[in-house]
Amino acid sequence: MLNKKKILVTGSCGFIAYHLCKKLLKEHDATIVGVDNMNDYYEVSLKEARLKELEDLGKDFTFIRMDISDKEKMEELFAQNRFDLVVNLAAQAGVRYSLENPDVYIQSNVLGFYNLLEAVRNHPIEHLVFASSSSVYGNSDKIPFSTEDKVDQPVSLYAATKKADELFAYTYSHLYGINVTGLRFFTVYGPYGRPDMAYFSFTRKLLNGEKIRIFNYGNCERDFTYVDDVVEGIIAVLEKGPLAPYSIYNIGNNHPENLMRFVEILKDALVSEGLLPEDYALEDHLQLTEMQKGDVVTTYADVSALIRDYGFKPDTPLEEGLKRFAKWYKEYYGN
Ligand SMILES: NC(=O)c1ccc[n+]([C@@H]2O[C@H](COP(=O)([O-])OP(=O)(O)OC[C@H]3O[C@@H](n4cnc5c(N)ncnc54)[C@H](O)[C@@H]3O)[C@@H](O)[C@H]2O)c1
Repeated sequence: MLNKKKILVTGSCGFIAYHLCKKLLKEHDATIVGVDNMNDYYEVSLKEARLKELEDLGKDFTFIRMDISDKEKMEELFAQNRFDLVVNLAAQAGVRYSLENPDVYIQSNVLGFYNLLEAVRNHPIEHLVFASSSSVYGNSDKIPFSTEDKVDQPVSLYAATKKADELFAYTYSHLYGINVTGLRFFTVYGPYGRPDMAYFSFTRKLLNGEKIRIFNYGNCERDFTYVDDVVEGIIAVLEKGPLAPYSIYNIGNNHPENLMRFVEILKDALVSEGLLPEDYALEDHLQLTEMQKGDVVTTYADVSALIRDYGFKPDTPLEEGLKRFAKWYKEYYGN
């Protein structure tokens, strides 16, 4: 059980970390220190709203605004706290943004993660769990993607930084006996999500009567994973603990969906919440276009290792998850 554990969650005002902290605070009686630099990659008001909800849950949550790439602050944080567990979810996310803004990926995902590894080397903890990504599989045509596969052809800088994190983590685990588990998440979606991701930006555009761009003429598939499933997976790993000093797992739905079908399901969810009219002509709002640099055609998670070791597998259907997103969107933005 995680009762009485002191847990550092980085990126705590981010989408996945917010949901994780909320569940840990509500159901696990853990003490959480959340850190986030509150950068403006997407609307800061969303990060502030998530933070407010966490702070309203009580005194077991403490927030520190800091950048994980600041080595001195990181050392101070670990000198002042004795953490049992660390979950690193702070990162510069986004594949397309990494084409125009490479520096911040090195700063947050490489330097920031390295600082964290140094901190846990100097201040031992029980277990470090960190977010990796399905993007490390690149354009592999061997599906489903297994953690046994060779992953040394990332097609974006974002993916390369995530793969680099896995390598750094392995080395630190090997050299200093640190227990580390990397989790490769697959296209996570849900309430309070990230406005830069397709399901969110498509929603905005469709509600504004704008057209949405469908890349690779719709010939893409994504293994969409509902955020509560990802959180459940992280907690299962934290609760049972590491089964080896260094491990990597996929957390994905194991059920890829074609992009065109995904857009239809999203439209149906928006109609069922009354955000779009029953007779909405989706075809008039689609702009089919070529593949974007850095993107991959398919993602598809093999989760057999997660089931074997932690007895868990994501299972929320896309229809259900997008309905919950649409309901939240309506409540939050009052459309
Ligand atoms: N959402 C997905 O589909 C997905 C898929 C694969 C992997 N991931 C990974 O999961 C993690 C969480 O993703 P998310 O979707 O919640 O993204 P997010 O952008 O909502 O959350 C990341 C948070 O980290 C903070 N942050 C960024 N750089 C920082 C720094 N240098 N110091 C301190 N805080 C910093 C941001 O302000 C943000 O609040 C990330 O590591 C991401 O790469 C996400």
